[in-house]
Amino acid sequence: MASPTLISDTVEWKDLKGHAEEIKTTHLRDLMGDVERCKSMIVEHDGVLLDYSRQRASLVTLEKLLKLAEVAQLKDKINMMCSGEHINSTEDRPVLHIALRAAKDSVICTDGRNVVPDVWNVLEKIGDFAKRVRNGSWVGETGKPLKDVVSVGIGGSFLGPLFVHTALQTDPEAAESAKDRQLRFLANVDPVDVARSIVGLNPETTLVVVVSKTFTTAETMLNARTLRKWISDSLGPQAVAKHMVAVSTNLTLVEKFGIDPSNAFAFWDWVGGRYSVCSAVGVLPLSLQYGFSIVKKFLDGARSIDNHFYSTSLDKNIPVLLGLLSVWNVSFLGFPARAILPYSQALEKFAPHIQQMSMESNGKGVSIDGTALPFEAGEIDFGEPGTNGQHSFYQLIHQGRVIPCDFIGVVKSQQPIYLEGEIVSNHDELMSNFFAQPDALAYGKSPDQLQLENVADHLIPHKTFSGNRPSVCLLLPSLSAYNIGQLLAIYEHRIAVEGFVWGINSFDQWGVELGKSLASQVRKQLHLSRTSAKPVEGFNFSTTTLLSRFLQGDTG
Ligand code: F6P
Repeated sequence: MASPTLISDTVEWKDLKGHAEEIKTTHLRDLMGDVERCKSMIVEHDGVLLDYSRQRASLVTLEKLLKLAEVAQLKDKINMMCSGEHINSTEDRPVLHIALRAAKDSVICTDGRNVVPDVWNVLEKIGDFAKRVRNGSWVGETGKPLKDVVSVGIGGSFLGPLFVHTALQTDPEAAESAKDRQLRFLANVDPVDVARSIVGLNPETTLVVVVSKTFTTAETMLNARTLRKWISDSLGPQAVAKHMVAVSTNLTLVEKFGIDPSNAFAFWDWVGGRYSVCSAVGVLPLSLQYGFSIVKKFLDGARSIDNHFYSTSLDKNIPVLLGLLSVWNVSFLGFPARAILPYSQALEKFAPHIQQMSMESNGKGVSIDGTALPFEAGEIDFGEPGTNGQHSFYQLIHQGRVIPCDFIGVVKSQQPIYLEGEIVSNHDELMSNFFAQPDALAYGKSPDQLQLENVADHLIPHKTFSGNRPSVCLLLPSLSAYNIGQLLAIYEHRIAVEGFVWGINSFDQWGVELGKSLASQVRKQLHLSRTSAKPVEGFNFSTTTLLSRFLQGDTG
């Protein structure tokens, strides 16, 4: 019998469908009472602890999910990814972001070539360049050292580096190393973002890094031209050579733009944009801000998870377990969203990064061979650091819809405060909430408990918490550069696991193209209307009305 092309046609998928109906009749309160079950649902690797006992899953569920992984050929797909096969079939590309943090002496081949030496050539070039900028031997047009950096890029050329920068900013070692330096990002083509990114900066002491895999992204290229003008208006066009560098896979376009190719930092088409933070995309701006040695620790942390991912059995493998449980929640229990809740303000840009990584990767409607999926793939990711989120959207999570939550905590704060007279430190106060929320979600509060507390009858329905709301807890030792790298890699691999099981291509993003091409028609219309008063035509009634109104009210 030919093997089914869709995972949902397999016996294992159908078996899980039936099993989900049984699990729906079980409450987490009961599952949590089984200590042996809970014990086996805690796994650790290199200081990172995952507790998934608050998932609506029994040990039988786990067995069945592992069988699903087997029939989905998960292990083979992981091996194919790590061995450089062209698993991104619609773009005919390998997916090798793991090579970006590989040890210098390791061998990772694709198309007959070991890519690790290429990676290390660029890393060493970055290390040397960052050192020269930071120690003042690379100076700007007027001889002043460049202490501020604006990184211009969008999507994967922005969100990962922003997350890591925000997380490192308050790490004492990184902060010390970044003293008197600023790293800013310019992503949105909104002129407000341009203004915000350069306010208070002096072109004489600013380095602009243009980050774009393709070097064709409309927003990034317009922003790059805007900052090129900002530099040349102030210092003359020749200053671009000293004040602008680039990160791209398209070195021809970098040169055409006017950036000296020797000031370009390459990466490769086997690095997807949303998986590129460990390439020059992240490593260059972060090394300029914090020094290469700190960024290297971030890469080391990611590598520790890479090794765990491809060498640990699936039942003890943190990204694999997380990925399988996500599939369970989305496809079998019917929970389409996931809340990412780091109890660390330093991780405030983590959820936005995961939004792109997860939703651009797994937001697909067809299987890898193009068959329409008879089930929903992908998750709706959103999040906010705790405890802020508790005062915002947790109401819905507790009493409204069921949204599986990722609670992410750290044992040791980057910035501990002990206030005399308080019963706990600030970090303990924060973490009290981290430990309490998963139980509140899991156990809830029944009408009987409320009655025992003498709650008025008419308030009982309002104060009842149904509980049975799943979550996972990830506890990291601290938030050093190394741990930040670990966290990143856990999510990168988890998302790949989900896609491998769903049988989709998690590494292309055709869904972003249509909007881009429609925007180029609008761009042409705006240009013609503004320059030769050409009336709006060729659009539907709604767009024509909106465009006409826009053109009437403003001169651009
Ligand atoms: O929006 C789609 C996208 O292609 C993302 O995948 C990518 O990260 C982003 O645009 C930026 O692309 P580039 O790095 O080529 O400018």
